[in-house]
Amino acid sequence: MPAITATAPAKIILFGEHAVVYGRPAIAVPLPQLRARAVVSADPFAPAGYIRLQAPAIGLDASLEDMPADDPFSLGVHGVLDILGISRCPACLIRVTSTIPIAAGLGSGAAASVVLVRAFSHFLGQPLENRQVNDLVFKIEKVYHGTPSGIDNTVITYEQPVFYIKDQPIQKFRIARPLTLVIADTGIPSKTAVTVGAVRSGWQADPHRYEALFDQIGRITRQARQALETGEIDALGPLMNDNQAVLQELGVSSPTLENLIQAARQAGAAGAKLSGGGGGGNLIALAANETTQRISQELLAAGAASVLVSNISNTGPLE
Ligand code: PMV
Repeated sequence: MPAITATAPAKIILFGEHAVVYGRPAIAVPLPQLRARAVVSADPFAPAGYIRLQAPAIGLDASLEDMPADDPFSLGVHGVLDILGISRCPACLIRVTSTIPIAAGLGSGAAASVVLVRAFSHFLGQPLENRQVNDLVFKIEKVYHGTPSGIDNTVITYEQPVFYIKDQPIQKFRIARPLTLVIADTGIPSKTAVTVGAVRSGWQADPHRYEALFDQIGRITRQARQALETGEIDALGPLMNDNQAVLQELGVSSPTLENLIQAARQAGAAGAKLSGGGGGGNLIALAANETTQRISQELLAAGAASVLVSNISNTGPLE
């Protein structure tokens, strides 16, 4: 049995975070240069049914039976076996590696689950379809993130820009002209579940105000989709700034994020905003060829823990 490999990208949210949890649209794109990889190989010396999992980045090296039932990798393996109706599989080693920074809002967990599910089902001779991979990984994400919107697993599974509305069919779309983003990490770890919970408390206390803010984000996101599809990149920067202003009103920005966003704008970014859960985590700045280096340098000088430049475009045919 040959070893089977699967890979999947990181992701970044361009517009619509938080409001997406309340049924408004969000736009996310894959970051193909950062990837998770799973390799599944047969273990000819172990008895049938024995599965060993390795993920060096998180210090995991264990047999499946010794892992907690709610471990994401364990959920992925059992999920595949259930879908395929297999009770005893050939002994194997599943090794997951990744260049995606962990807990940085770049989808490292969802990407690890996607590659595991893909490679393992392929190894068993019945590769799951994207739809099945996406559904299973969404289930796993729910165990870990409470009430995720499902945008992470979707953009990572399909590796295409998505215009995502919760509980609706996925809308993939074309980006007419490539964009350059500088992605900066504040270095401040922030759990998405915490900021999502804070927004929920605010919404419960003042639903009227929060619904109006979500509507504003929804409008901005729809305009952004149009700008991306028609190649009007000039419209995008101001839309990013508008989205950031509403995120600030939602209470998910922070002085560190604001400071770095300001530094990016002063260095020539056409627009900048936090990306993902907020509180800490990442921000994105829209750059042009001539400003990319300056923005990166200024962000580091202003205290960003790391920066990454990514060219965003379509990666393949729309499925
Ligand atoms: O922190 P991230 O990149 O996983 O993004 C969270 C996005 C939210 O809209 C805040 C939550 C969600 O589940 O969509």
